[in-house]
Amino acid sequence: MKQIGVGLIGTGYMGKCHALAWNAVKPVFGDVPDVKLVHLAEVDEGKAKVRAAEFGFAKATGDWRALIADPEVDVVSLTTPNAFHPDMAIAALDAGKHLWCEKPMAPKLADAEAMLAAQRRSGKVAVLGYNYIQNPAVRHVRKLLDDGAIGSVNHVRIEMDEDFMADPAAPFMYRHEASSGWGALDDFGVHPLSLISALLGRVSRVMCDMAKPYDTRVTSSGQSRAVEVYDIANVLFRLENGASGLLALNRSAWGRKGRIAVQIFGATGAIVYDQERLNEVQLYRTSDSAAEQGFRTILTGTNHPPYDRFIPAPGHGLGFNDLKIIECRQVIGRMLGEDSVAITFEEGILIERAVAGMARSFQEGRWIDL
Ligand SMILES: NC(=O)c1ccc[n+]([C@@H]2O[C@H](COP(=O)([O-])OP(=O)(O)OC[C@H]3O[C@@H](n4cnc5c(N)ncnc54)[C@H](O)[C@@H]3O)[C@@H](O)[C@H]2O)c1
Repeated sequence: MKQIGVGLIGTGYMGKCHALAWNAVKPVFGDVPDVKLVHLAEVDEGKAKVRAAEFGFAKATGDWRALIADPEVDVVSLTTPNAFHPDMAIAALDAGKHLWCEKPMAPKLADAEAMLAAQRRSGKVAVLGYNYIQNPAVRHVRKLLDDGAIGSVNHVRIEMDEDFMADPAAPFMYRHEASSGWGALDDFGVHPLSLISALLGRVSRVMCDMAKPYDTRVTSSGQSRAVEVYDIANVLFRLENGASGLLALNRSAWGRKGRIAVQIFGATGAIVYDQERLNEVQLYRTSDSAAEQGFRTILTGTNHPPYDRFIPAPGHGLGFNDLKIIECRQVIGRMLGEDSVAITFEEGILIERAVAGMARSFQEGRWIDL
């Protein structure tokens, strides 16, 4: 493969991330085919043309089906809201395109299963946008666990908090409609679940509670509307290896901006990581002398691949968009037949099934075996 033709659907928060990643992946990594930004789709042609000019795409359309029908497009970056994923993903795969689809797969499990079926019948690559697993710091956590740095893991605690829904006066939006999913559970919970999948293996049992901090919000036309989703979710879980776990998810946690605080406790130590300090890992080891035991801070640098592809000096720090560039390299790797670090639809469906199990647990008020 000498050249990769890219199609981008959606140009909001994640659409821009994908565009930056496609633009940067060759300069950062070098060892990839040339990237050609072929076609961009938005809700209307006017917006598509503006964004195509900004992002560097050759063609623009207000009809995403035209992008999928374009023979120059090899891979589709799908960055529209969750409810659009099933139709767009299945159409792209059925048209023989590779797919880089933002998380989660779909608001409804049946749709996610249909997306997996489409991927299987197409034989094309379908990678999900679980960027946090691409962080060199997180990859180092995996190495520490594999090396037995903290012994066998017995407890995991992950808190994911942001405050973009903390203001009760903030207007009603599509994210408050049941058609967009459960709320914090699938919008947020899938990220911690991607970390669990990449670091610790499968979840076997779940018990979930969800809550609405505010029952109503005011629409842009001044009407009060009932909030249909849950901005808070708490989940007890068990891993297949027997370790116990806790997830706390909150989209209305004032002061928290991008917190994914992970604590992993083992027989001989502990590892702590927080996305708000994404270039650091905290490690505690009982093998240190008793007088010196305490958490040490490991700052990522050139010994934590692929940090060195960005910066030759340690401690300067990568950012959120850099994780997307690394993820883009992994998507290309899968397209080239490499065994790259990625959550494909095959692993992603386990996350969707776990979320569905958590939602069922909340509805039925009991533990659910996955
Ligand atoms: N990986 C992450 O860290 C992360 C972070 C935020 C959002 N997301 C995911 O990314 C996806 C998009 O979220 P966002 O925050 O970027 O949303 P957004 O609202 O900022 O952007 C969505 C874009 O899709 C466009 N769009 C909507 N319908 C369309 C259509 N029919 N055809 C073409 N374009 C259309 C909108 O005009 C908008 O530009 C969601 O699945 C979300 O869960 C992932």
